[in-house]
Amino acid sequence: MANAEELKRETIKRIVPYSPGKSSAEVMAELGIEKVTKLASNENPLGPSPLAVEAIREMAPQSHIYPDPQCTELTEELAARLEVEPETIVVGRGSDEILHYLGLAFVDPGDNLVFSDPPFAIYLYTARLMAAEEVMVPSRDFRHDLEAMAEAANERTKLIFISNPYNPLGTIVTADEVAAFMDAVPETCIVVFDEAYFEYVDDPSYPDTLALVRDNARCAVLRTFSKAYALAGLRIGYGIAPPDIAGALKQVREPFNVASTAQVAALASLRDPEQVPRSVANNRAGKQYLYKQFDEMGLQYIPTQANFIFVEVGIDSAECFDQLMRRGVTVRTGEIFGYPKWIRVTIGTPEENETFISALREVLS
Ligand SMILES: Cc1ncc(COP(=O)(O)O)c(C=O)c1O
Repeated sequence: MANAEELKRETIKRIVPYSPGKSSAEVMAELGIEKVTKLASNENPLGPSPLAVEAIREMAPQSHIYPDPQCTELTEELAARLEVEPETIVVGRGSDEILHYLGLAFVDPGDNLVFSDPPFAIYLYTARLMAAEEVMVPSRDFRHDLEAMAEAANERTKLIFISNPYNPLGTIVTADEVAAFMDAVPETCIVVFDEAYFEYVDDPSYPDTLALVRDNARCAVLRTFSKAYALAGLRIGYGIAPPDIAGALKQVREPFNVASTAQVAALASLRDPEQVPRSVANNRAGKQYLYKQFDEMGLQYIPTQANFIFVEVGIDSAECFDQLMRRGVTVRTGEIFGYPKWIRVTIGTPEENETFISALREVLS
C-alpha cells in the first residue's frame, strides 16, 4: 500500500509545518511556574475591547446558525470608514486566509512569487502550496529592497508581497518608494501590501495604499483585527482590492469562512473609539521604555513602526530564548529569520516589558 509520502503532491513536500514555538501552558507545565510573559507572537497585550467581549457573549447562543457568508454588516462598516466600495472588501479568517486566497485565485504551477528575505512564513507557504517558485530578495539595511524586488519580478511573477511594516524587522517602505515601485513592476503581477501592523505606524512617509485601490491599481491591501484590535484568537482580517481582484478572491472563498462571533466582535471593536488609541499609546510608551533599556545595555536594535522590536542580543539567539524561557518570558529567536544573534520581542504592557528587561539583563550579565 502506498503511504502518504508517495501520494502527496510534490510541492507539499517543500512545506515545513508552521512552528508556533512552545505554548504558555507547555512552558508553565515544564517549569512549574504560574505565569508566562508571552512576547513571542506580536499579540496585543491589552486584550480586546469590552464592547467586542459583550458582542461575543450576545452572539454565543446563536452558535448553531451558520454565519453570514458575505460578512455584510462588517463589510459595509469597513467600506464607509475606509472610503472604498463594499465590493472591494473580502473578509477572511485572519489576513492569512486572504494570502491563501490570493494564491488560490491567481497562482498557477510554475509561476513565481516575489518577497523579501527574511520572509513572513505565510508567503513561503503560499508559494509552496501553489507549486510556485519563491523568489526571495535579500533585505537591505533591514528594509525591503524595492529596487531589487522590481528587478526580480518577471512575466511569470503573479504576486509580490510587501510586509509593511516588515515582520520581523519593524521597518517600513515609504510612499515615494511605493510610487516608484508601482511604475517599475510588470503590469501582469499583483502587488500585495500586507499592513497587519499599520495602526502602530507613526512615520508620516507611510504610503496611502487605499488610494491605489481606489485608482484600480494592480494591488491588494491586507489588514487584520489580530493586532491593534486584539482579536487574534477569533481569526478575522480582510483584504481591500479593486473589484476584479476582490471578485476573484470571493470566487475561491469558502462559503462560511468567518465565524459569527468574529464578525460581531470585529464590528464592535471598530465602533469602540478607544480600542486603537489605547493600544497605540501603550505600544508607543513601551517602545520608548525598551529603546532606553536597550541603549543602556548597549544593544543594537531596529527602530520599529510595529508592535515588536528586533534587537541584537550578541549571544546565540536559541540560547537566549532558552534562558529567557527559564525565567518565564518567551520571545522569537532571530535564528529562524537568518539572524542568529538577534531576537524579536513583542512590546507588552509596562509590567511585561519590565519583566522581560530584568530577565534579559540576567541572561546577558
Ligand atoms: C506580516 C504579517 N502578515 C499577516 C499576519 C497575519 O495576521 P492574521 O492574524 O490576520 O492572519 C501577521 C501575523 O502575525 C503578520 O505578521
